[in-house]
Amino acid sequence: MPLLEILKYPETRLSEPSLSVTEIDGDLQQQIDRMMGTLYASDGLGLAAPQVGDLRAFFIYDLSPSEEVAQKEKGPVVLINPEIIEMEGSKVEDEGCLSIPGYFEKVKRAYRIQVKGLDREGKELRIEREGLCARLIQHEIDHLNGVLMLSRISSLKRGMFIRKFKKQKRKATSK
Ligand code: CO
Repeated sequence: MPLLEILKYPETRLSEPSLSVTEIDGDLQQQIDRMMGTLYASDGLGLAAPQVGDLRAFFIYDLSPSEEVAQKEKGPVVLINPEIIEMEGSKVEDEGCLSIPGYFEKVKRAYRIQVKGLDREGKELRIEREGLCARLIQHEIDHLNGVLMLSRISSLKRGMFIRKFKKQKRKATSK
């Protein structure tokens, strides 16, 4: 199965909100499998459909490489039309994104969340997660709303990132 191309910042499609999934069909299943393959071939923990140019509201994750989360939370998990119904506490931790390779920055997120959605069979799913897993789910749901982690950091840090990004781009094109 061929890998999908992961869109990178500043691709404008990453800023578009996705649409509710209305049909859980073979096409969606195939896309989920392709995204799983793409995720495993990359260095990431989660991948939202808009990151591969698909504006359907779903994401996948697999926290198997992580020691921080309990076995039952590791995944792989598919969450379709996810909705956060409860948030609790907050924590600031380093975060990265496959669409902004090599960039890590501290982001404040709710510590514990309750989220509902559908699994890949279309069954209703309601889960409560904390720590890394809760952080990842909030990050992926942001992608479904066209929001990158850059919108979650201070304007000062964002400005630094953009300046550095433009400088690197200039360097790359002048070579
Ligand atoms: Co991301």
